[in-house]
Parts: sequence; C-alpha cells; structure tokens
Amino acid sequence: MTQSELSALTLHARGKVRDIYAVGDDLLFVASDRISAFDHILPTEIPDKGKVLTQLSLFWFDFLRDVVSNHVITARVEQYPESLRDFAGQLRGRSMLVRRANMFPVECVARGYLSGSGWKEYQRAQSICGIRLPAGLRESGRLPEPIFTPATKSTTGHDINIPFGEMVRLVGRDSAEKLRDLTLRIYSLAAEHARNRGIIIADTKFEFGSVDCNITLADEVLTPDSSRFWPAESYRPGGAQLSYDKQFVRDYLESIHWDKNPPAPALPEEIVHKTREKYIQAFRQLSGKELEI
Ligand SMILES: Nc1ncnc2c1ncn2[C@@H]1O[C@H](COP(=O)(O)OP(=O)(O)OP(=O)(O)O)[C@@H](O)[C@H]1O
Ligand SMILES: [Mg+2]
Repeated sequence: MTQSELSALTLHARGKVRDIYAVGDDLLFVASDRISAFDHILPTEIPDKGKVLTQLSLFWFDFLRDVVSNHVITARVEQYPESLRDFAGQLRGRSMLVRRANMFPVECVARGYLSGSGWKEYQRAQSICGIRLPAGLRESGRLPEPIFTPATKSTTGHDINIPFGEMVRLVGRDSAEKLRDLTLRIYSLAAEHARNRGIIIADTKFEFGSVDCNITLADEVLTPDSSRFWPAESYRPGGAQLSYDKQFVRDYLESIHWDKNPPAPALPEEIVHKTREKYIQAFRQLSGKELEI
C-alpha cells in the first residue's frame, strides 16, 4: 500500500505508523507496515505488521467488549461506505472504520512492571507519578500491584508523566476516576490473558474518548506499539528485558553501532523476515487465531 494510492481520500492525520482518513463523520484508521526503533522510523517496512496491529486491536476490543465500549464501527471492507470500495485491496485486514470521539487529553498508562520512564522515575524518587513504591524494587521487577500512571503528550512526541491530581484538573474528578479504574481493570484482564499465553504485558497505554457522552476505548489497544511485550520464557528481573517484537531489530542496530541519529539504516532481509514472524506469532499466541493476510 502506498500513500499515493489512497491520496484520493481526505487525510485527517498521519502518525509514525498509522494514517487516519476522514470519512463523513467517521474516521478510517489504516495501519502501515512502518516500524520504529529507538524513536526513529526505519526506511525498511515489515510486511504485514500493520495487519497484525489492526487485527490484534480488534481482538482486544472484542475481548473487552463487556467491560468497555469501543470506537469500532466495522473492519469489514464490504461494509465500508461506497467511497472506499476502490481501495478495498489496500484496506483489507489493516484498517478499521471508527466513530470519531472527543478524546480525553491524557494517555492512560497502566504498569505492572518497572521499566522505561517508570524505572527512571523510581530510581530518582522511589515513586511514579506521585505513587509511592516500596524500596528495593529491581529494573523490570513486578510491582506489588498494577499502577495507573497518566501522561500527557508533549509537542515533541515524548510523553510527560503527570500526577493524578493534574489529570483531575485536565478532565475533572469524575472522568479521571472512571478512566483510572477502567484502565487498571482492562490492563489486569488483558495481562492475565497474555500471561497464560506466554507473553508479559509489562505496561500499556490506552486512549479514551467520549462518544455520545459515553466513555469509549479508542485508538489502538494492547499492541506491541502501544505496550511493552516481553517473552515470559526469558523473563529475568534485575535488568532490561528482551523485547518480544523488536529484539532482532534492536540487536541488529546495536551490532552495526548505529549512533541513533538520522538517517536510520535499512534492515537486511533476514532481520525483516524474523521480525515479521515475531509479529505474526504474537498475534497467533494472543488471539489463538491465524492472521488474515
Ligand atoms: N476514535 C477517535 N476519534 C478521534 N481521534 C482519535 C480516535 N482514536 C484515536 N484518536 C487520535 O488519533 C490520533 C492517532 O494518531 P497516531 O497514534 O497514528 O499518531 P500520533 O499519536 O500522533 O503519533 P505516534 O505515531 O507517536 O503514535 C491520536 O491523536 C489519537 O488520540
Ligand atoms: Mg499514537
């Protein structure tokens, strides 16, 4: 799929990985095969990665449907509006038509393990987002219980962790409490499911919006792009963990001593192939289904 092929559609926004089109009052999310590593988009794509991201999100939306409403209208191309039919081939399996939501300006992060910005903050302050934690926790260690650590998006793309009180100021107490409780509930259900299938979801980010005044789970959900997935098999607290999906890419980029400044290097065929297999395996493992290609 190329951008030009879909250029007849009205682009609403373009993220690092996804392109979003306006379709009447609704939005069409299209996940590309772009991949980022160390905060840069690489010039090489991972074939079918966008399908994994889309179909995994759809799996989770359905898995969670009794707990939270979601923004999905349909992912069946046959049900898309007439204006999209010409693009059926490019859209099938990697897109979803969603209700446009009024987004809460907060990223709802749940953490079950100590990693990333959480680990950094813990080392400095023994707390994350103002939540006091026990002393002596190790990097990648499991937290006594999952915690809610909201963040706001900065214009530079890096998220800023905020205390719960700040979230209350941004969205109001009632919504803040509902979003916190929902986030923890959803994370716990998903993490338990994943753990039984050999994947640790160390942390994840949800985005909620309001549709017809109802809190609605939006964006992508519980994918390797919005979460930290670790293979349970090799889990060893006390240091950084192997990444379920990006380990081959990271190892390769480290092996060629890329200084992590642009331009990002291309990936060799073998790394692309192995990485593609990992994404597909993650989908299979978590959903128990075969990816529709
Ligand atoms: N149902 C929805 N209605 C309106 N906006 C939505 C909906 N679901 C998600 N969004 C918003 O759409 C945008 C999706 O953008 P996307 O994630 O592709 O890129 P990004 O967040 O800008 O950057 P990044 O590539 O770093 O994630 C986000 O701003 C998200 O909050
Ligand atoms: Mg995003």
